[in-house]
Amino acid sequence: MQNRTNFATKLGVILATVGSSVGLGNIWRFPFEAGRNGGSAFILIYVGCVLLLGIPCILAEFLVGRRSHANPVEAFGKLAPRTPWYLVGLMGIFTGFCINGFYCVVTGWTFSYFLTSLRGSFFEDGTDYSRFFTEFSTGTWQPILWAVLAMLAVHWVVSRGVRKGIEMSGRILMPVLFLLLLVLGVRGLFMPGAAEGLRFLFMPDFSGVTATTVLSALGQAFFSLSVGMGALLTYSSYFSDEVSLEKTAYQVAGLDTLVAILAGIVVFPAVFSFGIQPSAGPGLVFVTMPEVFAGMPLSNLWSSLFYLLLAIAALTSSVSLHEAVVAFISEHFELSRRKASLFVLMIVVCMGALCSLSIGVLGKYTLGGRNFFDMLDFLTSAFLLPFGGLLTTLFVGWKLGPASLQEELSSHGRYRVRLIKVYLFLIRFVAPICILAIFLFNLLM
Ligand code: TRP
Repeated sequence: MQNRTNFATKLGVILATVGSSVGLGNIWRFPFEAGRNGGSAFILIYVGCVLLLGIPCILAEFLVGRRSHANPVEAFGKLAPRTPWYLVGLMGIFTGFCINGFYCVVTGWTFSYFLTSLRGSFFEDGTDYSRFFTEFSTGTWQPILWAVLAMLAVHWVVSRGVRKGIEMSGRILMPVLFLLLLVLGVRGLFMPGAAEGLRFLFMPDFSGVTATTVLSALGQAFFSLSVGMGALLTYSSYFSDEVSLEKTAYQVAGLDTLVAILAGIVVFPAVFSFGIQPSAGPGLVFVTMPEVFAGMPLSNLWSSLFYLLLAIAALTSSVSLHEAVVAFISEHFELSRRKASLFVLMIVVCMGALCSLSIGVLGKYTLGGRNFFDMLDFLTSAFLLPFGGLLTTLFVGWKLGPASLQEELSSHGRYRVRLIKVYLFLIRFVAPICILAIFLFNLLM
């Protein structure tokens, strides 16, 4: 096995890990899921899922990663030799490919929209943005080329390694992301539809809540936090003992939720200002936001800033999706990082091409009303991620047990962990039972 590196600094740890969590999930997926599921009530359930299920799952993943200092498959193998637990890691690798498949397509869209925004002609009178998005996203070659370009950028970062690639990109890109978000959020508060947008986000109305709403919120929480496939596990395998797992988990969950809500404040006032349906689906930020920017002075500037924000968020998250798989492949098959990453790139691009075409020319092939793109999205958030989280909490709660939890959370006595009993209870009982119950409810309803 090759020598493994660590992240160099604590700040690097946080920025890289938050970079993994804050992504398209927050700015692209959260608004349309919230819109589709009625807004505020969904958001409240979402926050509940983050606190009760998300944080215990993050802690469990961190624990497995740092204790083993290994990739997802070998981590479980190392901590529980000669048992089938390594299959949880393997399932994570599979999940990683599935998410990467559609994620790279949307990342490609953000790159393309960023450059299009810079072009003066995008905001000339009479552009129909809904038609523009449909024509672009259902096209055959263009979206695939953009996805390839985006993946080459990810490949470049991952090939440079943990410190020079992942940590460095987080340190440069995340501060830019927060700055952009702040500027655009303030801008959102001054839109004519701000009041209605904020009401939609923050005035709970539970009349429309169903079992599906709860499953969607759970899936969204896991997707947004990057939990359930081994991405956080891989990052934490590069943490040193100086990193407090507890503190890092709170920082990641807190910042991720903050960004999702800020993204809501950027997007929904705009949606209501222009009378667009909040339930518009995956096209939401690609259709509504250009409408908004077109009506503003300096359209090109605002629009470029917004899609730059999306592209940065997407890039740092893609890096983590890629890294988990690359760590496994390079360590297991003893390949160089660059070769392993190239191999992953090729598979991801093939899946991405299929996803992209499934919105366009292959649109007639569907399963249960879902094309390949929607199917991967649904399968991963509604099933694979929560299931991965469920198994990881069972592993940590029951197989590794309280002593390792105490040891690892306290960094071998370095930090005091006051809530250890609470964590144990959440990891052993609350998280597994709730996730299972949500699954069962959805099967039976
Ligand atoms: N959390 C990222 C987002 O919100 C996506 C992501 C990156 C992810 N790595 C992951 C999702 C691992 C699940 C598992 O966009």
